Amino acid sequence: MAQRSLRQVVLISGNGSNLQAMLDSRGDELSAVTICGVISDIPGAYGLIRAQKAGVPTAVVSRTDFPDRHDFDRMIAERIDAFDPDLVVLAGFMRILNAELVQAYRGRMLNIHPSLLPRYRGLHTHRRALENGDTFHGTSVHFVTAELDGGPVVAQAEVAVEPDDDEAALSARVQQREHIIYPRVINWIGTGRLQWTGAIPQFDGRPLEKPIVWKHLSGPESLP
Ligand code: GRF
Repeated sequence: MAQRSLRQVVLISGNGSNLQAMLDSRGDELSAVTICGVISDIPGAYGLIRAQKAGVPTAVVSRTDFPDRHDFDRMIAERIDAFDPDLVVLAGFMRILNAELVQAYRGRMLNIHPSLLPRYRGLHTHRRALENGDTFHGTSVHFVTAELDGGPVVAQAEVAVEPDDDEAALSARVQQREHIIYPRVINWIGTGRLQWTGAIPQFDGRPLEKPIVWKHLSGPESLP
């Protein structure tokens, strides 16, 4: 019997280029997952337009409409639950979700963070990598826990830092990698290859003690 497609909600706050990569990967790299809704905490986020153009339902939970943190948290949880998702995917969502919601979706909530975690949790990751003179930088996909950028990292793509890089150039190359790896990692959950139900995530039935790292990611063909 054909496997049921998992329902995925995407949370965004801005441009939504990762969302676009997922939309473009539907039926292909993202074959085992259906994008059933997009939620933004910023009403004018460009990602909302991307979703609408792709025919995906959207919802907005505006920070200004819900200045009280608890009200905001309750409304976000309500909106997520209303889509009845199997997976919640954070893609440039710039708010920390409350612990109760994160716990409710444990093992079913992913984030992508623009650094090689555990380096550079939080903001301005490209600037910090450049200031530290790093020769390698990159991006990480991880399961979400209540700890900011702290859940188990499942996959990373490395990016070499070039001598003339500035924040914008480095960020653009990191994002190119994000657009390749994020849909693939999400699909691993859809196909059952990746799970996190116990202490350590499992990949292809084995404990994933360390993230899968692509050092020279030139295209989708180099992915497992
Ligand atoms: C990405 O670089 C991601 O790593 C970070 O936020 C950025 C979102 O970009 N969490 P976009 O909105 O997907 O273009």
